Amino acid sequence: MTRLEEDPGNSRPIGIFDSGVGGLTVLRQLLRRLPSERMIYLGDTARLPYGTKSRETVVKYSLKNTSFLVEKGIKCLVVACNTASSLALEALRQAFPIPVLGVIQPGAERAARLTRNGRVGVIGTVATIRSRAYEEVIRTVESSIEVVSVPCPLFVSLAEEGWTQDEVTYLVAERYLEPLRKRDVDVLVLGCTHYPLLKSVISGIMGEKVRLVDSAEEIAVQVRNLLDQNGTRNAGRERCAPKVYMTDSSPHFLELAQMILSLPATEFEYVDL
Ligand code: DGL
Repeated sequence: MTRLEEDPGNSRPIGIFDSGVGGLTVLRQLLRRLPSERMIYLGDTARLPYGTKSRETVVKYSLKNTSFLVEKGIKCLVVACNTASSLALEALRQAFPIPVLGVIQPGAERAARLTRNGRVGVIGTVATIRSRAYEEVIRTVESSIEVVSVPCPLFVSLAEEGWTQDEVTYLVAERYLEPLRKRDVDVLVLGCTHYPLLKSVISGIMGEKVRLVDSAEEIAVQVRNLLDQNGTRNAGRERCAPKVYMTDSSPHFLELAQMILSLPATEFEYVDL
């Protein structure tokens, strides 16, 4: 019998939360890399956006979301929101006795490794950019890297609206991304889990030579490594359908979530926190 099979706790789910549907880009990557893990996702759609709110409020919402997931018996938590990862990670680690992973560190480390000209762009919500969380990690890896950070708050609404290829999105993106093009960054971190939904517009404007770092992909690798290191992978072989909770029951979010995940077996449920 393997070490994994000895521990029934390994079949406990992984908890994931975001302010809305953006974190589903993280869930999608986690399902790709860890198909036999059970996953519970919470999208706090009633209180979206987080990116314009104060640290205190984001910490309060994040603690509430995590309590809900911990009550469901999760074995680890993935904060699939850059804003909450920038502002609330320490508070969550202190409050809950489970491993808590955020999206900033893996994305920042990847960007620092990828750049060839030493100029990295970071786009995110106002709160994420103001926290300077990406800059700090990137400079820990390589202190000489120049980091150009630009908040792009309208991207969240455009993604939530489902306007992933729209000409309005293109115009907004051109304006936001201009300073990054001028500074000739060769790597751009999509520092908000909503932004991968706009990837084709963003890469169309930045050009194919600029490498985009998707925090969703990076965190999925880190979660797999964590489970392997701790010996807490689910030993089961069956593919598990995720369970998705939303704090607002709007049909619009449901449609969008179904489109992003494109998994017919996903169970959706409204929850009042
Ligand atoms: N998806 C969240 C993030 O990664 C931002 C969306 C919001 O402002 O709530 O920061």
